Amino acid sequence: MTIPIKTGAEIEGMRVAGRLGSEVLDMLTPHIKPGVTTLELDRLAHDYIVNVQKAVPATLGYQPPGYPAYPASLCASVNEQVCHGIPNEKPLKDGDIVNIDVTVIKDGWHGDNSRMFVVGKGSIAANRLCQITYEAMWKGIVKVKPGARLGDIGHAIQTFAENQGYSVVREFCGHGVGRKFHEEPQVLHYGRPGTLETLVPGMIFTIEPMINAGRREIKEDRKGGHYDGWTIVTKDRSLSAQWEHTVLVTETGYEVLTLSAGSPPPPAFVTAPAAQAA
Ligand code: MF3
Ligand code: CO
Ligand code: CO
Repeated sequence: MTIPIKTGAEIEGMRVAGRLGSEVLDMLTPHIKPGVTTLELDRLAHDYIVNVQKAVPATLGYQPPGYPAYPASLCASVNEQVCHGIPNEKPLKDGDIVNIDVTVIKDGWHGDNSRMFVVGKGSIAANRLCQITYEAMWKGIVKVKPGARLGDIGHAIQTFAENQGYSVVREFCGHGVGRKFHEEPQVLHYGRPGTLETLVPGMIFTIEPMINAGRREIKEDRKGGHYDGWTIVTKDRSLSAQWEHTVLVTETGYEVLTLSAGSPPPPAFVTAPAAQAA
């Protein structure tokens, strides 16, 4: 029941894994366009992780209690799919939104991250949901510093998303990450400030809000009575978006570990906070 604290070489190992995880998304980005299938993206990612990065795709064969072994090297969640979408042979089409979630293991350390992609041009509503969800993730990240509480992160994300007219998925959360894919703590994307665990330097966890355009309720993605054991959709079939970074608590604040040359820049409220306040 304790949160692992990483030091020295452990943090360095997490930096490498985080950068590699992000570089998989960089590599995939030019391929995400109308006509490509998520299975093709999965094969590209798998070959890149294994052959170029000499790393291991953490999701392939991953089997938490009560789940079937996950069959792919990434998760691809399209439109109303909230998370854990299994890659398939259906081509992405113009206007789809897709979350690609990649976790690599390098030298035993896990780097876990995801981004949203709008296929083709996309509607104003779809683009806005993806953008606001990105900002919601960063509203949580900027709360990270020693002495802050996990509830501060959840509260920042929830108030921002709900003020935009969206809802926050409750059933899935961020998580500690390190030698294990999922470890303590749980990082809720909703909550009250000043509650839950106090952050200390060396904690590493993900922040990965799932934000729905409609209601927050979710369900298993059953098609014709069949469930793949993984894919989650919004109950009302509204669009859902998610972004994820792996974040280190430093002595003075935070360090995002899942960054690389192709990472989208942080929002203006992160890079120019004074200008924002003025
Ligand atoms: N990468 C996901 C997360 O952010 C977990 C995916 S588990 C899988 O925690 F088995 F669905 F791939
Ligand atoms: Co995660
Ligand atoms: Co992930």
